[in-house]
Amino acid sequence: MTVLVMQDVRKMRGRGTRTIPVIRGISLSIERGEVVLLKGPSGSGKTTLLALAAGLLVPDQGRVCLDGQVLGELDPEQSRQVRARKVGFVFQRSNLFAHLSALDNVLVSAALAGMDSATAMEEAIGLLKSLAMDAYADRYPSELSGGQEQRIALARALVHRPALVLADEPTGNLDSVSGRAVTEALFNIARSRNAAVLVATHDSRLEDIATRDLNIADGVIIPDSP
Ligand SMILES: Nc1ncnc2c1ncn2[C@@H]1O[C@H](COP(=O)(O)OP(=O)(O)O)[C@@H](O)[C@H]1O
Ligand SMILES: [Mg+2]
Repeated sequence: MTVLVMQDVRKMRGRGTRTIPVIRGISLSIERGEVVLLKGPSGSGKTTLLALAAGLLVPDQGRVCLDGQVLGELDPEQSRQVRARKVGFVFQRSNLFAHLSALDNVLVSAALAGMDSATAMEEAIGLLKSLAMDAYADRYPSELSGGQEQRIALARALVHRPALVLADEPTGNLDSVSGRAVTEALFNIARSRNAAVLVATHDSRLEDIATRDLNIADGVIIPDSP
């Protein structure tokens, strides 16, 4: 089943007369169960493309369809709801709430997605177990290592069983060993739940665990050389 379809998406960014085309006609589609790496140099448009995929940015032209819904046809509140229920995000920094325990950080995301609290708790505990973080459920972010924080961020991104997981340089702040472990955990859990994953990364060490690569340069997808 197709989770994400982008059709000839174009986006300018900037202000007033100083706008530049950042995404210049991108079409792609991603199926459930796929783990797709989005590779490209800094400034090529990776973060912008992820924001368009999630409906955080609206394209100037073209169409983005997420799990059967055309994002441009939704009002802001509908768009927020679709995002909260269908998308999970992982960023370079964990962005955990410093005043909430690891478990509560995960439960916030479940609550925003409208999960009932019993199911949310069951899912959250199950995920913390599969990420080997259940012993840290009551810890605060300042009491966790970078790799542990990022595992909590993964649980937060996955707890509501999103159709699409978007990860923006998720290993950028980690050493290579914990970076690889975190990414493998993300890919394995997402696959076992039949979610689609789109990961923007510079990290070529992740290539062997992805199902497919997309190369972006200057706002367009570069076809594979034969
Ligand atoms: N909010 C913004 N306003 C103006 N230009 C932006 C904004 N965000 C990104 N850009 C520009 O868009 C281009 C692509 O940025 P980005 O999507 O962040 O690329 P990447 O994630 O691949 O580094 C860059 O030239 C960047 O300067
Ligand atoms: Mg970026």
